[in-house]
Order: sequence, then structure tokens, then C-alpha cells
Amino acid sequence: MTKMMRLKKDVKEKRELVNITIDRFLPRKDEYPKIIHKAMRYTLFAGGKRIRPYLTITTYQLFGHMDKKILPVAAAIELIHTYSLIHDDLPDIDNDDLRRGKPACHKEFGEDIATLAGDALIIEAFKILLTVDAKPKVKIDLIKEFAEITGDTGLLAGQIVDIESEGKNVSPETLDYIHMNKTAKLITTAVRFGAILAEASEDDIERITEYGKTLGMLFQIGDDILDVVGSEEKMGKKTGLDAQRGKATYPKIYGIEKAKEKAHELQIKAQDIISYYGPKAEFLKKICIYIATREF
Ligand code: IPE
Ligand code: IPE
Ligand code: MG
Ligand code: MG
Ligand code: MG
Repeated sequence: MTKMMRLKKDVKEKRELVNITIDRFLPRKDEYPKIIHKAMRYTLFAGGKRIRPYLTITTYQLFGHMDKKILPVAAAIELIHTYSLIHDDLPDIDNDDLRRGKPACHKEFGEDIATLAGDALIIEAFKILLTVDAKPKVKIDLIKEFAEITGDTGLLAGQIVDIESEGKNVSPETLDYIHMNKTAKLITTAVRFGAILAEASEDDIERITEYGKTLGMLFQIGDDILDVVGSEEKMGKKTGLDAQRGKATYPKIYGIEKAKEKAHELQIKAQDIISYYGPKAEFLKKICIYIATREF
């Protein structure tokens, strides 16, 4: 088996673990009021890659832990990510009809229910974090960081500036602000939480943070590039919409070739950072290539 095949197998196995964990934490779909629980589960189980929880679990394992204590943390991260997708697709935000190969949540349940299902997922994510088997101080730190990177100092800030920048010529600094906040911070937190729960040293947490930021920026630049060159069928979401809406993206500001060069630079940088850990970081190193060369 090649290293890439080993990575893909590991991604698949952990995706299943994450799905089981999410299913356990979420209210049943026939629980009253049914419609919101159905809507929450609908986009959650529509077929996401589960890259963020994968990163959380794999970083935890990098520091020598193989137990299941990390799973609720991984699930909470995926819930926030899925909520962000549901709200991102709403007509007043990106107005996307297709998500994870299916009609977007609001297309299936209406804007009212989709909005509320997104809200419910945020709250559920925080509730899940409360169940983590960790010292109270660690738990409080996790919840504080989670609030900071999801709120108006993180993901929401990125989304706001993303919307405000539509149709404008933004500076490279603004573009990086958008990408760092709307996408890279959650990915950074995904790896940081793995390291924190594993009680990694301050130096290690710092290294992992740098790795996460680099990978997070690579992830969003890759998403921008795929919106130009990707296949709607493979991605399970509409392509070409960024240009149509005048979104601030790497291809728009730098051109497609330069955007690809930037992505490659970030891939190499992330690989270099994680190479510090040698062969035990095989998956976290290989995933840089996986993210840079993905087609969906
Ligand atoms: C899409 O994320 C949104 C971005 C932040 C670019 P993913 O590409 O991880 O989407 P899923 O979870 O696999 O559907
Ligand atoms: C992703 O930005 C950021 C969040 C969902 C927070 P996009 O708007 O580019 O994501 P897609 O392309 O719709 O998945
Ligand atoms: Mg968007
Ligand atoms: Mg979008
Ligand atoms: Mg996109």
C-alpha cells in the first residue's frame, strides 16, 4: 500500500468513528419538534469529508494517545463546520442550492428551519464540548477558544467581511483576513484541540498551531481554485459562483496560476512544519498533499 492509500484508509476509518459519535450525541430525528432534528441530521449526514475531525483525532494520536476521549471534541468541530455550511448557503449569504451532493438545507426545509437548524448545531457543539473528559480548567480553555474562533472574532468575522467584499477590489491583506477567519481558524482549532487534549507541551502546541494555520489557508485557497477548475459533480456543490458573485478569492486577486503557486508553497510549508515529528506524523504530512491535490 502506498502512503496515500494508507492515508485514505485512515481517513475513511476515522470518518466512520466520527459519524457514529455525532449520531450518538444528536437528538433522534423523530424527537419533538421533529423538523429541526431532521434538518440538523440532513446536512450533517449528507456526506461531508470530515477533514476537520480527522485532523483533531490524528493530532491527538501524534502525541501518543489512542483512546476515544478525543471523539466528542472532533464531533463538536464538525457540528460547527456543518452549521457554517448551512448558513453559508442561505439566500442572503451565498445563495447556494447544492451542498454535499444534495439540495442545500434551506432548499429541503425552507430558510426558517435551515436557519434554526444551524443555530441548534452551534449550541449542540458547545454542549458536546461540556461532556469532554478533561480537567475543568482544560475544558474552560477549550470552550473559550471555541467561542472566540466561531464568533465575531473568528468564523463570523470572516463571513461578514466575505459578504462585504463582494464585487469590490479588496487588498491582499483583506483577502487573507477573510480566509484566515472564515476557514483557517476552525482548522487551526481542530489540530490545537487534538494537541491540547493530548497534553502536548507549549512548544508542540505552538508548532501545531502554525501547521493548522498553514493548512487552513491552503484549504480555503484550494476551495477557491476548485470553484474555478473543479467539477460540480465531484464536489457536490455548485462551481463558478465565486466569480459570478464577485467574491474575494485567490484566483480573483492573483490569477489562477499564481493562486496554484501560493497553494503549493503552503503545502510545502505545512509539510516542513509537521516533518519535525518524523515518521509518526506520516498522516499529517501526507494530508497536506491530499488537501492540495483534492478534486472535491
Ligand atoms: C467547505 O468545506 C467549506 C470551506 C471551508 C471551504 P469542506 O470542503 O470541508 O466541505 P465538506 O465538509 O467536505 O462538505
Ligand atoms: C467557506 O467559504 C466558509 C464557510 C462556510 C464558513 P465558501 O463560501 O467558499 O464555502 P463553499 O464554497 O460554499 O463551500
Ligand atoms: Mg461563503
Ligand atoms: Mg459558499
Ligand atoms: Mg467556496
